[in-house]
Amino acid sequence: MASFQLRCSATDKLYSADQLQNLSEVGKPLLAEYDLASLKDSFTPEVVRQRTDRSMWKFQDVMPVTNSGEIISLGEGETPLIPCLRRGPFEAFERLFIKDEAFNPTGSFKARGMSAAVTRAAALGATSLALPSAGNAAGAATAYAARAGLPCFIFVPEDTPPANLVECAVGGAEIYLVNGLISDCGRLVREGCDRFGWFDLSTLKEPFRVEGKKTMGYELAFDMADAERSDQLLLPDVILYPAGGGTGLIGMWKAFDEMEKLGWIGTHRPRMVCVQAEGCQPIVKAYQEGAEHAPLYPNAHTCASGLRVPIAVGDFLMLRAIRESHGTAISISDTELLDGVRELAQIQGIYACPEGGAVWKAAEKLRQDGWIKPDEAVVLFNTGTGLKYNHLFSTSHLPRLDQADPHCLDQLAP
Ligand SMILES: Cc1ncc(COP(=O)(O)O)c(C=O)c1O
Repeated sequence: MASFQLRCSATDKLYSADQLQNLSEVGKPLLAEYDLASLKDSFTPEVVRQRTDRSMWKFQDVMPVTNSGEIISLGEGETPLIPCLRRGPFEAFERLFIKDEAFNPTGSFKARGMSAAVTRAAALGATSLALPSAGNAAGAATAYAARAGLPCFIFVPEDTPPANLVECAVGGAEIYLVNGLISDCGRLVREGCDRFGWFDLSTLKEPFRVEGKKTMGYELAFDMADAERSDQLLLPDVILYPAGGGTGLIGMWKAFDEMEKLGWIGTHRPRMVCVQAEGCQPIVKAYQEGAEHAPLYPNAHTCASGLRVPIAVGDFLMLRAIRESHGTAISISDTELLDGVRELAQIQGIYACPEGGAVWKAAEKLRQDGWIKPDEAVVLFNTGTGLKYNHLFSTSHLPRLDQADPHCLDQLAP
């Protein structure tokens, strides 16, 4: 394991990683920095390939632990990279893959971030945790807090998907429904942390959720090498990611930089595409306007609850990754993203979350525009399972059969 410290993403000032930390003095995210040079001989792709751990902690050399006994894990990560079948609208892509994060504990990629953040918070002596959430982070925090034996205070918008509320309530979290957006929940968490001494686990307001999410970038390099039968680690040409707070996008970008410093990959980077919903697209708007920051997006609304994040403390980090990678940012309407969920389910057999549906429709649009070439290797992130969003689809139209009626199958006759 390498030693690590924290650096302010805005001012470069260093902070200790040996005590609980939230934002830097200037209110910006702190990012972990490892002594990568000291790892070059011991932490190689060959060493990682030989490890048998079935979780993201096979990358623990570049994760926030000093003692592997501290790790709080439920087997997060190691999700499959599924090649898309070339059927229907998917025909237009020769090398399209889905990194299916639905396989994570609690059904979403939020498990990666929570495993890392709760591990470090517990190791540093946090006695209670708190966070605002759009839903999936709440479910993941509930599970990892339970595993750590810590109370967890969660604030969610009152229209958060029912499945997320149930998993938090059953999992023993102290969950509160707020008549506002995730940004309003975040304000209550801040106040509560000051009053009650909870540790704030909000996205990018503590340094380690992003460390868990970055393992998606490490894994992808191995997955792509396997998919393309290469001995060398490989990255795709394009990555599409549904961004709210943006930890995954920022985390993967950080992972690629670390991998280059470790000598694992060269300078080639995927073009990073930030996908948002039409009703809440602060990063898309800032990207189009050439701005460095994205102010609060007014009247935020979308059924893709993970994308209903009107303001993000890591806005400038997302925008930097998009621009440095020569990527782009694109928004998708709710009607389109729900169509995307149906297409993924009916053609690929993957019941994706609406955020995953949005990413697929964004890829389709970018392919139609010629921004994505047919032979480019493209990875879509399906960040969670569709099963948490059953409330978005109706079953009231399904035909009913009376099993006592001997002719009940007649209506099916061709
Ligand atoms: C399924 C899903 N996808 C994407 C996101 C956005 O993730 P991030 O805030 O890391 O950008 C969320 C956040 O809640 C989510 O639940």
